[in-house]
Amino acid sequence: MTRHLLEVDELSPAELGRILDLAQDRRPSPVLAGRTVALLFEKPSARTRSSSSVAVVQLGGHPVDIAGSEVGLDSRETVEDVARTLACYHAAVGARVFEHSKLERMAAAVDASGSPVPVVNLLSDRGHPCQALADLLTLRQHLGAVAGRTLAYVGDGNNVCRSLVFAAALAGLSMRVATPAGYELEEADVKRALALGADLLMTTDPAEAASGADAVYTDVWASMGQEDQAEQRRLAFAPFTVDEGLMARARPDAVFLHCLPAHRGQEVSAEVMDGPRSLVWQQATNRMHAMRGLLLWLMAQLEGAGG
Ligand code: CP
Ligand code: NVA
Repeated sequence: MTRHLLEVDELSPAELGRILDLAQDRRPSPVLAGRTVALLFEKPSARTRSSSSVAVVQLGGHPVDIAGSEVGLDSRETVEDVARTLACYHAAVGARVFEHSKLERMAAAVDASGSPVPVVNLLSDRGHPCQALADLLTLRQHLGAVAGRTLAYVGDGNNVCRSLVFAAALAGLSMRVATPAGYELEEADVKRALALGADLLMTTDPAEAASGADAVYTDVWASMGQEDQAEQRRLAFAPFTVDEGLMARARPDAVFLHCLPAHRGQEVSAEVMDGPRSLVWQQATNRMHAMRGLLLWLMAQLEGAGG
């Protein structure tokens, strides 16, 4: 069976560790020489589009950018027909979509066609697994090992939070998640993380989450597609800004993480975002390394499967 990556918890802890090892390995490995990778975006992107494109080039391949509006998923033709079409040409298909179910349908259609082409989630309403890989890589570079350490996530129980919780569970990283009431992770997701062995605290108190943490993470209060809720969210999330006061609750050497794009004065103060504890640019750089590690691993799985 072709391995896809729609969510982090499709990986075993060992597979996750292997991808991070590959991400750290800077030796040239032209596994995509003469091949192409489709990168389809239904939503905007600065980091994911560029880091994925560069990672493909680093592996000897060529990225092919496709706008969602151009192919019209379920409007010009079905998601399945688009996926099968892309699988005729490309070594892998990455897609950023509004509804996560579109990724599941893409992977199922490619599998049904018999084409050994991995589908990668470049962000959906449900998850952002490639971001979580880069986040773990950043923490591993900074802390040495993440097992037994504590990450506080303060903000919206969104796609980034969800993938991060799964990734942390697989890596043995404890997580403390603080969200306003009504913006928590779904209960099914908490159960799913606990089934992976997560050490997970859910709270509505940012100070409780940040207390003694090795790192504090936040993300936007209104994700792409939620622009019409921005005002109501700004009110609900007002006590959840990661500022110097909240960082003071964490360990004295605690670092700050943000997947970006950031809104200074909302989810993070400018002082923290641009201060000495911020690892956000290392984290952004690691999107490229993590994607290269992931593509290397996905291609190796195909070879292993004889594909
Ligand atoms: N963090 C991230 O995915 O950024 P983009 O939305 O700019 O790709
Ligand atoms: N939660 C954000 C992440 C952006 C990288 C969004 O989905 O818009």
